[in-house]
Amino acid sequence: MIDIHSHVLFEIDDGAENLKTSLQLCLDSYRNGCDDLVLTPHFFEYDNISDFVEERNEKIEILRNALSEKNIPLRVHPGAELFLSDDIFEAENLDKLTINGSRYMLCEMPLIPFDTRFITRWFDNLFDRGYIPILAHPERYYEVHNDYQILEDLIDRGVLFQVNLDSLIGLNGLQPQILSIDLVEQGFAQFIASDAHDTEYRHTRLIEKLNELPDEITEEMVEQCLIVNPQKVLNNEKIEIKITDDF
Ligand SMILES: [Fe+2]
Repeated sequence: MIDIHSHVLFEIDDGAENLKTSLQLCLDSYRNGCDDLVLTPHFFEYDNISDFVEERNEKIEILRNALSEKNIPLRVHPGAELFLSDDIFEAENLDKLTINGSRYMLCEMPLIPFDTRFITRWFDNLFDRGYIPILAHPERYYEVHNDYQILEDLIDRGVLFQVNLDSLIGLNGLQPQILSIDLVEQGFAQFIASDAHDTEYRHTRLIEKLNELPDEITEEMVEQCLIVNPQKVLNNEKIEIKITDDF
């Protein structure tokens, strides 16, 4: 499997607090059927992209060396989780923030209430620059719960969705669970990922959580969302959106 969203890289955001934790998260991931893990630290500082990229790349190198010393054959790839705001309009080169150098960009919005008028412009800006945005955990946003039209507008534009495995098994509450199941069942969500931050709760043990999936989520859906589509992202290949029903 391929986990495209994680905060496993150490000392760079609110994820792994040190290299030891990063290694444990990588080991847990590998033992749970994951071969490839994308490191997607939160990114906010649009006026300081190069410093972020430099720090991230140095830490990835340290982690890769430590993985090879410990004989953990997990492959780790660079990425980021872009916090969308109006700052994006001023930002210059976002290329280094995509997943594994592809056109796919993992993005997040505020989880708390915010002015939603500019959402579509943020995504249009990314498309205009040639990126394909993947919205992280659409099922978790307060504003989405208030107004599902937000998701319809993004679907119409071709935005891809990644739901959290935690949400599918109910760990983020009932509304996120129902919405995440609907999005996967109907083909609007193309990815499932861990969004792992720590070894206890938001962890990297995919199989442990996949065993708790509700019946609506079939093995075929899991294969699409955790193997087939993520592999296309790593390879920078086109993903066909297969919608099974009306939203
Ligand atoms: Fe995240």
